[in-house]
Formats: sequence, C-alpha cells, structure tokens
Amino acid sequence: MRLPTQLTAATAMFLCAAGAATEPTPMAAAAVGERGAVASRSPLASEVGLEMLKRGGNAVDAAVAVGFALAVTHPSAGNLGGGGFMVMRFADGGVAVNDHREVAPKRATRDMYLDGNGNVVEGLSTASHLAVGVPGTVDGLLAVLERHGTLSRADVIAPAIRLAGEGFALPADLAGQFRRYRERFAPYPASVAKFARSDGAALAAGDLFHQPDLAATLGRISEQGRDGFYAGRTADLLVAEMARGAGIINHDDLRAYRSKWREPVRGTYRGYDILSMPPPSSGGVLLVQMLNMLETRDLAGLGAGSPAAAHLLIEAERRAYADRAEHLGDPDFHDVPMAMLTDKKYAAARLADFDPERASRSADVGAGGRLPDESTDTTHVSVLDGAGNAVAYTTTLNLAYGSKIVVSGAGFLLNNEMDDFSAKPNAPNSFGLIGREANAIAPGKRMLSSMTPTVVLKDGEPFLVTGSPGGSTIITTVLQVVTNVIDHGMDLPAAVSRPRFHHQWLPNRVTYEPGALAAPTLEALRDSGHVNLNEVRFGIGDANSAMRRGDHVIGVSDPRNAGAALAF
Ligand code: GLY
Repeated sequence: MRLPTQLTAATAMFLCAAGAATEPTPMAAAAVGERGAVASRSPLASEVGLEMLKRGGNAVDAAVAVGFALAVTHPSAGNLGGGGFMVMRFADGGVAVNDHREVAPKRATRDMYLDGNGNVVEGLSTASHLAVGVPGTVDGLLAVLERHGTLSRADVIAPAIRLAGEGFALPADLAGQFRRYRERFAPYPASVAKFARSDGAALAAGDLFHQPDLAATLGRISEQGRDGFYAGRTADLLVAEMARGAGIINHDDLRAYRSKWREPVRGTYRGYDILSMPPPSSGGVLLVQMLNMLETRDLAGLGAGSPAAAHLLIEAERRAYADRAEHLGDPDFHDVPMAMLTDKKYAAARLADFDPERASRSADVGAGGRLPDESTDTTHVSVLDGAGNAVAYTTTLNLAYGSKIVVSGAGFLLNNEMDDFSAKPNAPNSFGLIGREANAIAPGKRMLSSMTPTVVLKDGEPFLVTGSPGGSTIITTVLQVVTNVIDHGMDLPAAVSRPRFHHQWLPNRVTYEPGALAAPTLEALRDSGHVNLNEVRFGIGDANSAMRRGDHVIGVSDPRNAGAALAF
C-alpha cells in the first residue's frame, strides 16, 4: 500500500526553512503496512523482498533476496563482484553484523598505486584491473542466510535468476546511465556487450534487458553455494579476466575469502539506542561520535535548518572526519581506539572548543581533494518484518559500476574498492577523503568504508532502519535522517526528503543540496567563517529507510532516486 504523505508540522517547518531553494527535493511517499516493509533503490528488487516476506520469510531472507536481485536490476551498485555490510536486529533482542567487505589481494603492496617518484598514478585504483578488491558479497549473503534466514538458498536466489535470465523492461533511468557510461565501458568488450544491444547500439528505455551470463553465474551460486562463485567456473572466469588486464586476484585469493561476523558499534542518543557498522567501516563510529557531540547541545531548540543548527552539525562533522583520517582502518590490522572514539566524554571534550559564533579552521586546508565527478554509487536496503526483525543492508562496487569491468562469460561487474584504501598518506581518494597508516594497503586487509547501515531502537524495539550510498556523505546523510526524526520530530518521509548538507574536515567545504540551507542561513554561515559553501546539483545520499510506528511498518524510498518502498 502506498499512501501520499500528509504535510506534518515538521514537514511544513522544513519547507519554510528551504524557502530560498531553487529546486527542493520532492517529498517522498510512504508505504504503510503491518507485516513487513522493504525499501530499496530498485522497484523490482523491492518486489522481490516483499515476495519473500509474503511467503513467510523473515527480514533476513528478504534482505538477502534483495541483495541478489540488486545485482541484476541495479547494476551500478548492486553486485556479486563487490562487498557490503549488514546489521540485523532480531525480535528476540539478538544482534548480528556481517562484514563482507572486499580485501586486498595477496599480491597487493602498500605502494602499488604510486609511480617511481612516489606520486599516485591517476586512475590506477579506480579504472583498471588493479583497482579490484577480492569480492565479498556472495560469501556474506550466503553466510547471513545460512545463520539467520529461514528460506532455502534456491528460494532467495530464484527471483534474481529469473530477472537476469528472462530479462526485464529497461527503466528509463538505467537506459540513461548505460548511455552516460558507454565510453567508460568501451575498453572492456564484455561490458559493452552487457550494456548495449547486440549490434552495439544503445539500449533504450523499455527494451528487454537480458543478462544470460549473469543468470548462469547466479545459477551456479544457487546450486553450489560459495563454491559457485569462489571456485569452479566462476572463479576461472574471474581469474581469466584478471589476466586480460594485468590484475592480481588469483584462485588463492578467491578460495581464502571469508566474510566476518562483527560486534556492532553501540551508542545512545537522547534515550534511543543506536546499532551500526563497526570498522572496517568508519560509518558507525563516526555516527555515534557525532551524535554524542550533538547530545551535549539542544539541537531541537536550535531548529532544523537554522544557522546555529547547521553550524553545530558542520563543526561536529569536521572533528569526527579528522579522527577518521587518523584512527580508522581494518581492525584486524590496526588497533582502532573504539572505546575512546565512541565515548561520550571524549565527544564532549572534542567539541569543547566549539564556538557558536565562529567556524573552526581545518588543519591543512587545501590538502584535501575533490568531490567525485560521477555519482557516488553504493546502495542501501532497509527491511522490517512483522515479527519484529530489522535489517539494514548497504552494498557497493564503490564508484558507479565499479571498475566498469564485466567478467567476460560471467556477466557481473567488478568493484574498484581498492580506491578506498589510502594509496599514500594524506593523498585524497575519489571522495576527497584522506587516510594514513591505519588505512594503508596490505595483503588481505579490508579498505576503510563509510557505509553506515543503522538500526535505531526505541524502548528496546527496532524503530528506525536507515543507511545510504554516497561515499563520504553516507555518514552525514544517516546523521541527518536520525536527527531529523529524533530531534526535529519529522515523520519518515520528511526526514528522508529534507535537503541535506555535508562537511568532511578536508576539503574544508560545505556542500549542500538546493534548499538545504536557506539564503539567511548561508549568509549567517559565511559571516561566521564558513566561506566555502557549494550548492551541488546531484542528490546527497539515497536513504531508503523503514520505521515502526505502533502496529504499523512504514517504508520510504528516497525521492532523490527512482527506488521503491513497499509494505503489506
Ligand atoms: N566505497 C564507499 C564506501 O565503502 O565508503
């Protein structure tokens, strides 16, 4: 059931605050039900999730089925050849977190992206076979299903096989993407073949998009489990693809890959409990750290979109992202000071020099980088089932369509996740993020992520499920959805739709969507020293979210993109 959203007081408030907007984000519609809600970037994948719930599967079955379906219906980010993180909160109070982040191949070296002079070679970590980390998604989804699902492997993969094998009418947004990425697919014949008609002409909206090689790969996974991907024919095809482009992933890397079970990052915020993703993501740590900072101030009293609220958020973000660069990396390789970073006293001390009147100065302004010139793709799925289980799942190939390399004969794209490592201390990655020793490249190490799949509990029960794509902007997107709900009392459509802004310490710049910061707010921010304020034309984040309200479950698809929330 999809219902138009009523204009609530909170909604009206933000529309006023966004009065100077040139193009405010349209308001999301809510899907409301009682037995389950699924929100994802792809309407076809959300239908797959709902189908699992309707046939008696739980939220984990639905999330896993959506994960496989997204590899077919949302190829820019949904994947078999990438990685992801899943945070699960069960009706009995249990929590599980699966980390299926890619790892650096065994033959990776710390300086593999540097030239003889020690400079980063442009494009090597994003657009080459060397950019690919050992994929984790298939192992992760299967491990999660085996431990916490109720349906069979064949049941949850069948819809993805059907969508790939029979094809589906190509949506207009995908047709547009395929055209835009044509040149970047051009060096790779299997990529050209997958994303164009058989005569090489561009696929048009409404054409049947048929992926027989991908259907066959999914079939092998369905029949053989992880061996259908990490061994046998799929592994042979992947290793052969590596050989075509001087890539370094070999059979050993694939055989050795295992997803990991982790403890969630836990925090509290104004009486709510936060469960989020621990390292190798920076997402949960920074989310909890920023919430701890904000908790020391009366954010609600400042008012959503006010200059004082925007200034406070920017300064909290500046401090948290500075810590990210220094302290965050794969915890199996680097001792991340988790207790310190998520401590409320630490956050209060970190914000102690906050001046409500003046912008702080990021050390080393100018050492940061640039925003990506392509969409920062990753994708997030939120699921609530009728039994009280909640799943937040974020998955990625890194940049849109990852490395742009389709494995010939296997039909799936390979990630370019290696770019999330720090190729060189203080050298910015595609998201302008810098890193140091904590995130240096090492064989078998997981690259630092910003993905922030999050479950918020109210009175001990799942209340809000959220997350987002957007590279470095993922964490600040989730922060704004959470504070919009908890501090500003917005309903879920308003909280997700409200235009967003972002700061990440370096580069010392505030980026904002049209309508996020009204003219008087921008003026006040400039007056207090935030001189680098940039309106962006792309949406910041895509926070497909779900919420429980009494007996109802509510799904919201972010209006920035053509996803779908479904409920029953
Ligand atoms: N590749 C984006 C992230 O993991 O943060």
